[in-house]
Amino acid sequence: MPKITYIEHNGKSHAVDVAYGLSVMEGAVQNNIPGIDADCGGSCACATCHVYVDEDWFNKLQKKEDAEEDMLDMAHEPNKFSRLACQITVDDGLDGLVVKMPSKQG
Ligand code: FES
Repeated sequence: MPKITYIEHNGKSHAVDVAYGLSVMEGAVQNNIPGIDADCGGSCACATCHVYVDEDWFNKLQKKEDAEEDMLDMAHEPNKFSRLACQITVDDGLDGLVVKMPSKQG
């Protein structure tokens, strides 16, 4: 299974195995990782799964849909490496992915 590293705003790091086909958000929730609340359950409607993707990884991800782009506009302090974790599906190519949670999601 791909290993994904989630880094909390306080710097605490969690490296977990996430099954293929799950979203990066689901991987966090199933492993009780703080900082990804996923209030809408993955419907691209809350932005509480906002993460900053490590720069090296950002361009390897599937492209954003318009709905994700719109929701990120409402997220707390988005930057050019922002994604919604519920919109990233885990596959072979994501082994080693690193994401960081924003300060508001502490
Ligand atoms: S879980 Fe709500 S937008 Fe991702």
